Amino acid sequence: MRKKIVAGNWKMNKNFQEAEDLLDEILELMEDEQTDNPQMILCTPFPYLELATDMMDECHPKIGAQNVSEYEDGAYTGEVSCSMLKSIDVEYCIIGHSERRKYFNESAESMTKKIDLLLDQGITPIYCCGEVLEEREANKQFEVVKAQIQECLFHLNADELQNLVIAYEPVWAIGTGKTASSDQAQEMHAFIRNLLNEKFGKAVADEITILYGGSCNAQNARELFANADVDGGLIGGASLKAEDFYKIYKSF
Ligand code: PGA
Repeated sequence: MRKKIVAGNWKMNKNFQEAEDLLDEILELMEDEQTDNPQMILCTPFPYLELATDMMDECHPKIGAQNVSEYEDGAYTGEVSCSMLKSIDVEYCIIGHSERRKYFNESAESMTKKIDLLLDQGITPIYCCGEVLEEREANKQFEVVKAQIQECLFHLNADELQNLVIAYEPVWAIGTGKTASSDQAQEMHAFIRNLLNEKFGKAVADEITILYGGSCNAQNARELFANADVDGGLIGGASLKAEDFYKIYKSF
């Protein structure tokens, strides 16, 4: 059965004390949750990952990073490697977020290397794709997302792909308060699943978790998650308040 997931992307927010407080509040809310489907994931900034994996030890929420180096180890000042993440029990890592594509010029080649290294370490990549506003206005969203999926995922084999999560995040919806409609989300998610079906077969495509991201919040999550191909969300702003995030987690 494919997994439902609500993942919080804290981005570059919170100081250490605030991060600890938020983790505490989330732990308290999650205390009685017995299931790991839906799975809650918290993608914190690097300096808080070890605190987070320690605090969540044995508990339900899993911890993810927001980025990782494309290099294995060695003289790469300022970089954080997959094996470092593995050594502190990080289980997920966001790859290809639109903010990294835009501000850090992430290339398909670099994202592909990161995905391969993560899979080698047994860390699940959360691969982000999505079109910008001009592309949607020109009705190019399917073409754009298809290329993003093909260039970074189509070299994988079926087993590898099954250890990966996809997040569709229309860039015009991220942090803008403008969510994709439920129909727009379902249409793109079904399109992505069909692409995977054509390449990897139906049995594999049916198992892949595809998250929606972009101004998803406690008010609109239920409607978005009710779609057949929307398996949860990648949540930015609304993951910074424990109660809002927990409400989203409870929206299936
Ligand atoms: P948002 O961000 O929920 O604040 O729109 C989503 C994301 O960037 O992953």
